[in-house]
Amino acid sequence: MSVSVKDVAAAASVSVGTVSNVLNQPAKVSPETVERVQRAIAELGYVRNDAARQLRAGRSRSIGLVVLDVRNPFFTDVARGAESRAAEEGLSVLLGNSDETAHREDSYLDLFREQRVNGVLITPTSDDLSHLERLRDGGTPVILVDREAPDGSFSSVAVDDVEGGYLAASHLASLGRRRLAYLAGPLGIAQVADRLEGARRAVAEHVGATLEVIEMPALSVLQGRAAGVAIIARPPEERPDAIFAANDLLAVGVLQAFAMMSEVRVPDDIALIGYDDIDFAAAAVVPLSSIRQPASEIGSAAVDLLLRELADASGSPDHVRFRPELVIRASTQSSNV
Ligand code: RIB
Repeated sequence: MSVSVKDVAAAASVSVGTVSNVLNQPAKVSPETVERVQRAIAELGYVRNDAARQLRAGRSRSIGLVVLDVRNPFFTDVARGAESRAAEEGLSVLLGNSDETAHREDSYLDLFREQRVNGVLITPTSDDLSHLERLRDGGTPVILVDREAPDGSFSSVAVDDVEGGYLAASHLASLGRRRLAYLAGPLGIAQVADRLEGARRAVAEHVGATLEVIEMPALSVLQGRAAGVAIIARPPEERPDAIFAANDLLAVGVLQAFAMMSEVRVPDDIALIGYDDIDFAAAAVVPLSSIRQPASEIGSAAVDLLLRELADASGSPDHVRFRPELVIRASTQSSNV
């Protein structure tokens, strides 16, 4: 049997209205009464029913955040940045994992609408933003995280992934490597496609350089390891001499395959660079070069954009663009480069 406001009022010998004031406007109540009501709440184990308050106030005290993959430390760092910034405004973050699938993304968007969140921060699974347009047109602000809308119609926080891909491939080419491979996740994910575009531009600037594209079904360690095993199975002369992985999880998986299954040495035989610069990159068995994204700052900036839209819905979309940063470690430095 759940404890009600009436139970608390009876236990503290006050009216239900006084209990409500203690919960919502304690400055209106004498300190003695506040203390007596709070003691009754603690003793009875009363938990406020936010649903009623949400409906009255029109909005919850929360923000919805949908990320592509909660297993990816990049997104948990984004979530932590968003959460810290939201907490400064008395807001909490509800985290949803789309698992890079549209149907799970849609399920979370429906849930956040029902929960009447103040707004939604999302890394979309595809270029189809129609569900987000309906959510926004229904009165829920939407901020894109880690990518921009093709038509700029949503406020967004992102890193220039074309520039990031260019930096990664240029770095590999600067080592003298010429048989490059781009280890991609699903190319329907805009970030993955943009990084490929940047890599292509870099390869075009180096005579004799070629770029093979290896598309995997997910951006995970397991898929990276599967790709590494497939590369080892090739004759040495058919293997790439450098791999640019679309994110660090794929790169860590490749490192695992090479470390466990072959005489392939990183970077001497195959140089390897990832993307995101998650903590596991520096801690990898061969410290991984990577393209750093300021994940926590991305999350915090997304909340700032949402707060701005909540304060002034009439403003035009804002776009925060961070620069990618090349971080060089052992996986692209060797004695014979
Ligand atoms: O989820 C795929 C990738 O896109 C992540 O690793 C991160 O780089 C994001 O931008």
